[in-house]
Amino acid sequence: MAWHFALMIDPAGSGDTRSDFAGTFTEVDPAAPALTVGELSTQRGDGIFESIGVIDGHAQEVEAHLSRLGHSARLCDLPHPHLEQWRQAVALAAAACGAGEAVIKLILSRGIEHGPTPTAWVTAAPAADFSAARTRGIRVVTLDRGYALDTPARAPWLLLGAKTLSYAVNMATLREAHRRGADDAIFTTSDGYVLEAPTASLILRRGDVFVTPAPNAGILHGTTQLSLFEHLEARGFETGYETIPVSELQTADAAWLVSSVRLAAPVTAIDERELAGDAALTASMNAYLLSPRD
Ligand SMILES: Cc1ncc(COP(=O)(O)O)c(C=O)c1O
Repeated sequence: MAWHFALMIDPAGSGDTRSDFAGTFTEVDPAAPALTVGELSTQRGDGIFESIGVIDGHAQEVEAHLSRLGHSARLCDLPHPHLEQWRQAVALAAAACGAGEAVIKLILSRGIEHGPTPTAWVTAAPAADFSAARTRGIRVVTLDRGYALDTPARAPWLLLGAKTLSYAVNMATLREAHRRGADDAIFTTSDGYVLEAPTASLILRRGDVFVTPAPNAGILHGTTQLSLFEHLEARGFETGYETIPVSELQTADAAWLVSSVRLAAPVTAIDERELAGDAALTASMNAYLLSPRD
C-alpha cells in the first residue's frame, strides 16, 4: 500500500567539516530488521526523537526541530547531533515523500550497550488523516502528571523537557483519556497548573490574547505553537507564555491542541465544560500550518 522510507545514519562528530554527508547514509528496507537486540532505544527507551510534518514533499520547520533535537541531546548527555548531517538526511527523506501529508521521524538512540557510537536513523511515511480532528475538534480531560511546577528545576535527571523515546506514560495517558470518553488529555501539575497534552502543546484564547504554558515547566517547546504565535502576531493578536492555573481552563474563550502532524485541533470540551470554538479562525490557522513553512 503506502510508501515508506528509512535511512540509517552513521553519526558525524560535531567538528566534522564535510559539506556532503551522503557517504554516512545507508537507505534500508523499512520493512526489514535494522536494529540489533542490544539497542538501548528498544531496551530502555534511551534516546530522543523528533516528528516533522511534510506537506507535498516540503518538510516543515526543519531548523526548529533540529534545534530541539540538539536541546534534547544536551539534556540526555547524548553527543550533540551534527545538524548539517541531519539536515541532509531530512532532505533525502522529504524527497521520498509524495504529494499530500507525511511525517518524517528523526531518532537518535544511545546505541548498543558499551558500543562506540549512538544509533541514528530517519524514516518517512504517509500521515494519518486528521481532517476530522481539525474541523470537528476534540474533547479533552485534565489528568494529573504527578509532579509540581518546580520539579523540572529541582530534578533535571527526570529529563522533563526532553523529547525522549520513553513515551509509554504519554500513550497510557491517551488510553486513560479514551476510557473517560475523551479524545485527548491535558496534563496538570500536582500543585494545580496546566502543562501540555501527551503529544501536543496547549494554546488558550482570552479575547484577542493567545497564551500557552511557559516551556520552562518541564514541557516541550512546541514548534507548531511557536510558528502559530508568529502568525497570530503578524495578524495583530497578542501572544504570551504564562504560568496557567487549572482554573483558567474554565474561563478561556477557546482552546487548541497543536502539533506538527495533527496541526491545530480545536478543543470542544474540557472535562465537563463545553467550548464554543471559532471554526473560521481554526480553518485559517490550519491553512497557515499547511502552507510551506521554514
Ligand atoms: C509532549 C509533547 N508536547 C508538545 C508537542 C508539540 O510539538 P510540535 O509542535 O513540535 O510537534 C509534542 C509533539 O509531539 C509532544 O509530544
